[in-house]
Amino acid sequence: MKSLAFYNNKGGVGKTTSVINIAYQLALADNKVLVVDLDGQGNASRFFTDSPKDGLAQALTKPVVTPDVARCETRYPNIDIITSTQELNNISSQFEQFPADRRSQIAKKIVGYNDEPWYAADYDYVLVDLPPALNCLTESIISACDYVFVPIELGLFAIQGIPNVTGIISSCGTKFGGCFVNKFDRENPADLGLFELLKTTLGDKTMQNYLPFSRVIKNSISFRMTASEYMEWTFAAECCKKLTQEIIEICGG
Ligand SMILES: Nc1ncnc2c1ncn2[C@@H]1O[C@H](COP(=O)(O)OP(=O)(O)O)[C@@H](O)[C@H]1O
Ligand SMILES: [Mg+2]
Repeated sequence: MKSLAFYNNKGGVGKTTSVINIAYQLALADNKVLVVDLDGQGNASRFFTDSPKDGLAQALTKPVVTPDVARCETRYPNIDIITSTQELNNISSQFEQFPADRRSQIAKKIVGYNDEPWYAADYDYVLVDLPPALNCLTESIISACDYVFVPIELGLFAIQGIPNVTGIISSCGTKFGGCFVNKFDRENPADLGLFELLKTTLGDKTMQNYLPFSRVIKNSISFRMTASEYMEWTFAAECCKKLTQEIIEICGG
């Protein structure tokens, strides 16, 4: 089992959209996937299930509560989700009060699912959709994951902010899987230039595959479909597939 955090301290860059599409592609390739929605907005939860369960906040604050209380099956046989609800918005300050070893123990309980004695292991990938906040909770969860992936929307300020994000990742001690571009506009010369600047800034941590700015990606989510389910034959769907393949390779196949 591999646990992958999707993190960027900015909102709206496509963390949730990419987690949804990558989870689907991994599942298509016969992997058993657990999505962990750690964002109190609950967007991934509402995408995957009609009735998100409460309980993740308790699992994050009470040692005896397991995240299983908030685990739901989805309409995809190979994807389960630990759902979030608004209750998650109020716990980061409580979590921060815990001593460091308790924080890391709790974070491992949430993302290291298969290693837990109360659960029979069978997930191949755990994908964690994080909120755009940098706090003790997000740091602990990143630290407990095997890899972090960073979706970025190209822009000068976003690229200038990248060393800050990579600094956070290295202070967590987690492997930096790579940074991929979302909402890429390949017909915009400015985007091509910014992509080059990103490569200069990040070197080989810049991933080769990206997700295009695409109505297929945007609209599919509104219909509660992944890009491939909505329009399998499109470039956008192809990009979701290729990006997932690259992630699988980075994580060692
Ligand atoms: N590749 C894309 N093309 C077009 N719209 C996108 C794309 N990726 C995300 N969006 C839209 O951008 C908005 C923010 O995406 P979201 O995944 O919720 O970001 P985050 O989780 O980082 O806050 C949503 O309205 C989503 O539909
Ligand atoms: Mg989100």
